[in-house]
This record gives sequence, C-alpha cells and structure tokens, in this order.
Amino acid sequence: MTSSASRGRPDSPRVVTDSAALSQVLRKARTGGKVIGLVPTMGALHAGHLSLVRASVAACDLTVVTIFVNPTQFGPNEDFTRYPRTLEADLQMLGREQADLVFAPAADQVYRAGFSTYVEPPDVAQPLEGRCRPGHFRGVATIVLKLFHLIPADVAFFGQKDYQQVRVIQAMVADLDVPIRVVICPTVRDPDGLALSSRNRYLNATERRQAVAISRSLARAEELVRDGERCAATIHSAMRAVLTSAGIERVDYVALVDPLTLTDVDPVPDGTMALVAAFVGGTRLIDNRQLGKG
Ligand code: PAF
Repeated sequence: MTSSASRGRPDSPRVVTDSAALSQVLRKARTGGKVIGLVPTMGALHAGHLSLVRASVAACDLTVVTIFVNPTQFGPNEDFTRYPRTLEADLQMLGREQADLVFAPAADQVYRAGFSTYVEPPDVAQPLEGRCRPGHFRGVATIVLKLFHLIPADVAFFGQKDYQQVRVIQAMVADLDVPIRVVICPTVRDPDGLALSSRNRYLNATERRQAVAISRSLARAEELVRDGERCAATIHSAMRAVLTSAGIERVDYVALVDPLTLTDVDPVPDGTMALVAAFVGGTRLIDNRQLGKG
C-alpha cells in the first residue's frame, strides 16, 4: 500500500488511507445511485469476516471494508499492541471476495490531535462486556459512528459473534437516527464448533482443544431448553460444568438474557440469548447462541 488510493495487484481491492480520498470515491458512487455496503473490521480477517463481505457484495453495488485496530476500545491491560495486524493477507482475501474498496487509515487520521469527543453508549452496553471491559463500548460506539459518517453506506454488516456489540450499534443507530440499516450475519464456526475470532490465533494446541468447551457449553444450554428446562440457575450451572471440566476456570460470565434488552431472564423463555466470556489460557474469548425457538 503505497499511496492514499491505490490498487496493487489486479485482484486486490482499491485501498484508501485518508478520509479526503475516501469521500471523493464515495461521493461519485452516491451520485451514481449505488447502494453502498460497509463491513467494519479490525483486520486479521478470517472466514467470519469474509461471510460479512460476501453478504455485502451480494446485496450492494459497492462494498467498503474498513480495517482499523481501534485503540479506544481496548483497556489498558488488553491486547491492543499485540492484536494481529495482517494487512497484506487481508487485502488478498478481500480481493478474492470482490470487495471494492478498503479504508485502512492510520490512527492519527482517525483520532487527530486534540480529539476529545466520545459517544456515550446506550443502556445495552452496561451489563456483560460493559462490566468486564469498562470503556470498551464507548470506544466501539465512537469509532463505528465515525465510520458511519465517513462512509455514507446504506447497509452495515456485523457478525452475531459479538452479539452485545451489535445490540449497542443497533440501539445507537436508533437513538441517534443514523440513516443506515444494520444487518447481523450468523457466527461462522470451525467444524468442532469454535466460533471464529481473530484472537483464536493466540491459542496454543492445548488451549485450542479446551476452547471448544465454550461452544459446547452453549450447546448444553440449548439441549436443556429443548428438553423443557426453564430454570436459569440449573442452566447456568450446567454451562459452567462444561467449562470447568475442560479446565476453563476463569469465566467472566455465563449469562441468559433477553435478546433485546440483555437483562437476565428467569425462567428462560424460547429466544433467550446465552452468552459466555471466558479465558482460555491468557486469551479471552466470547460466544453466544439463541436458545429454543428464536
Ligand atoms: O468487531 C470489530 O471488529 C470492532 O469492534 C469494530 C466493529 C470494527 C469497531 O472497531
């Protein structure tokens, strides 16, 4: 990537690194009446991200993928510096998926000197990740709203794996009348059930085997609900037992919540979201599943 708007190899998408070049390209697309799809990412792309790109390419005339490791959504003891940055490989994958444009700005382009305005995230940001990662959703809401302004897309695509993030973005879009449609795409999983995540690459072989217990704990919850179990405490402890028996001891939360408000439910109705956040070795992973008839 050598210029602010470049197309490298013939199969790689056009890459834009500054917002002036970006708005020039997008202004043309908008006046041409094109439907614009946006896929915000932090790079280190995997098949989950590519499923979002595919959904956008299928539904929109022009697909913009953003690649930006957003510093404001990482806590002081989190993995911001270590987060995988794999731009060349990402661009190759995006070329194969026929993404049209990649916006990959430098941090000082996005957060210019003196930046001090943040989005106060909605109520759904409070529990779960909000409690475990203070400030995380303030950073997410701020960058996503900035991206929505920089890229006047018609539709934005997010993965269900980050379910609370999607709810935060949906609530923000509704509360602030942002003219964009938010589409949630299903979580993509490895064949054994592990939800794809850029952080899976931190896992060693033993941890990778343990990590599958997270999706198994969600499958156990589903099994219980399908069998008629409605007691939240019973389902919680069955889920925790699956994690513990795999050697996963550090569990941030196991939750059974209303899919819209993310408040705890008990008894557990069909449509409840089960969510887990746990450390496998030093790696914090999250996953979720809607239980019963959604
Ligand atoms: O889900 C992510 O990768 C990030 O939280 C997002 C939405 C790109 C904002 O930085």
